[in-house]
Amino acid sequence: EYVPIEMHKVRVVQKLNLLPIEKRLKAIEDAGYNTFLLQNRDVFMDMLTDSGTNAMSDQQIAAMMVADDAYAGSESFNRLQEAVEEILGTQYFLPAHQGRAAEHIISQAFIKKGDIVPMNFHFTTTKAHVELAGGKVVELFTNDALEIKSDKPFKGNMDIDKLKDLVKTAGKDKIPYIRMEAGTNLIGGQPFSVENMRAVRKVADENGILIVLDISLVCENMYFIKMREPEFMDKSPAEILRTLCDLADIIYFSARKISCSRGGGIATKNHELYLKMRDMVPLFEGFLTYGGISVREIESMAVGLREAIDWNVIRHSPEFIKYLVDSLDAKGIPVITPAGGLGAHLDARGFLPHLTSFDYPAGALAAALYIVSGVRGMERGTISMDRDEKGNDVPSEVELLRLAFPRRVFTLSQVKYAEDRIEWLWKNRELIGGLKFTEEPKVLRFFVGRLAPA
Ligand code: F0G
Repeated sequence: EYVPIEMHKVRVVQKLNLLPIEKRLKAIEDAGYNTFLLQNRDVFMDMLTDSGTNAMSDQQIAAMMVADDAYAGSESFNRLQEAVEEILGTQYFLPAHQGRAAEHIISQAFIKKGDIVPMNFHFTTTKAHVELAGGKVVELFTNDALEIKSDKPFKGNMDIDKLKDLVKTAGKDKIPYIRMEAGTNLIGGQPFSVENMRAVRKVADENGILIVLDISLVCENMYFIKMREPEFMDKSPAEILRTLCDLADIIYFSARKISCSRGGGIATKNHELYLKMRDMVPLFEGFLTYGGISVREIESMAVGLREAIDWNVIRHSPEFIKYLVDSLDAKGIPVITPAGGLGAHLDARGFLPHLTSFDYPAGALAAALYIVSGVRGMERGTISMDRDEKGNDVPSEVELLRLAFPRRVFTLSQVKYAEDRIEWLWKNRELIGGLKFTEEPKVLRFFVGRLAPA
């Protein structure tokens, strides 16, 4: 049996509650069967997201105590800039309050009305910012990307033939940049290979197109490159990260994921590109040496970036996810394989074949899992799609219940508890019925919409 091990010890703890099942039933009713509306005090394992919920290290907390408070020219910022240059190899750094703020600045700086931005896969906030700037997202994923049960090592790869075709048909002038997401969030934290990124770089160079790399989830993508791409087996995480960064023109991240605190930023080696984005930081975020982030968090980002190349830090999350995914898969429970880097993704369509997309199977599964376990996951299916212009539901390509793993937060016995409860639910899956909306916002309805049993 594969058993991962924690390469850290727990020194600060937070008490958890495990409510009795009647109280959990009442809590999910009060939350309109939407896990976003649950109160954290009613949750046992919070697997909603890995954003801003990761464990911080003793070194990060210590660094926060020596932060240098200044509106301009803070030493804390200098320390962060040094860490960025050392780890990513880029001289120029713009701080932003979180990942989507970086996306806002990049989109406003480079996208014109009618432009097209090719990606290996979209993320919700990324797509919204590209569209806000007048552009359109085109996803160029490979045929393997949406397969639920698979042994393909790099389901996050971009399809290079589709990219060449798009450049030909749309014209390179319509493409301000190609975006690569290291560890595709919405299809299960699946990685791309260095070989694929090199092929994207070749097409970009032949056509004079920029590459923007989102490294929010790059730690786990690096882990999979080292484990699965022969050329990199003996390379250090630092060398792999540098190899990826050297293939991009602009790099950005949500520090809520990669350095386990708050914040985000944009990094580049290119002074001209830096100048195109720079003046938006004081306009939208804050002065250039804080960008809307507190100095304490700037210090913890600097330490967190250095920890992001420590093998014992980065391997924890993918190995714990693999443990849960492989255990569920061995029991025949439908889950995305191979295990990715963000969480375990249950396939609600396979879990609940008696429901159609219009019964919102992923939302129903999320509510049912909370009732039987106190585990909170996130619906990533038809509820997360808004209705079309005619008011019809748009069935999602995949109906997933995402169980995110905040980094270094859960112990193996807690993961085993989740496994046991999921197995119970699988054996009793015919108990789960569909949901219908009782209150439905027009945009991003998944956040605050309320539902009831259909
Ligand atoms: N890029 C990726 C790949 C992300 O996963 C996220 C956030 C962002 C950008 C935006 O960053 O939240 O700091 O503004 N993902 C979170 C999640 C929200 O729950 O998956 P942000």
